[in-house]
Amino acid sequence: MSKQPQLDQLNTQMSKCSNCALRKSCTQVVPGEGSANAEVMFIGEGPGAKEDELGRPFVGAAGKFLDEMLGTINLKREGVYIANVVKCRPPGNRDPLPEEVSSCWPWLLEQIKIIQPKLIVTLGRHSMERFLPNQKISQVHGKAMRREIDGIGKQIFYTLYHPAAALYNGSMREVLIKDFKRIPKIIKKIKSEEN
Ligand code: URA
Repeated sequence: MSKQPQLDQLNTQMSKCSNCALRKSCTQVVPGEGSANAEVMFIGEGPGAKEDELGRPFVGAAGKFLDEMLGTINLKREGVYIANVVKCRPPGNRDPLPEEVSSCWPWLLEQIKIIQPKLIVTLGRHSMERFLPNQKISQVHGKAMRREIDGIGKQIFYTLYHPAAALYNGSMREVLIKDFKRIPKIIKKIKSEEN
């Protein structure tokens, strides 16, 4: 089976998940969206109010900013894959609890296994921490790092500040935009090293 039907099947299963308490308070599961053949996968923290309402990731103010930044590197959201560490909205947008992240983790791993992106871009501290524990985002943002992750093997990660955090913080916004613009070069380098 090619990647897209595999991912569609997985996301349909995911939409019926009730493995943690978050499903009781949210409107719907937000599996993720984009191309199963994406070279870049963006991983945020979890759905907010708008995402919960529409069933799509990054469709609020932070999502609009993400779309704008994708535009600066000639990408559209249809050409990448966008997902979150937890697929159900934590009530009041609180941080997801460790047990909620753990129970949702296998879904994210399955998505990564199917998509096999060349680059995983973590958006914000919480997403970074899940893959790159004990790091400070202020020190590792804008750096590509190869890490071996149980269940998915070696992956290349690129850490960015979260668009929602940078939205109203001028200096963080500038750094995020600058880091974001380096994505095409990083992908080019990854590809050249493959050959
Ligand atoms: N913030 C996130 O981390 N994910 C979303 O989907 C929206 C906002």
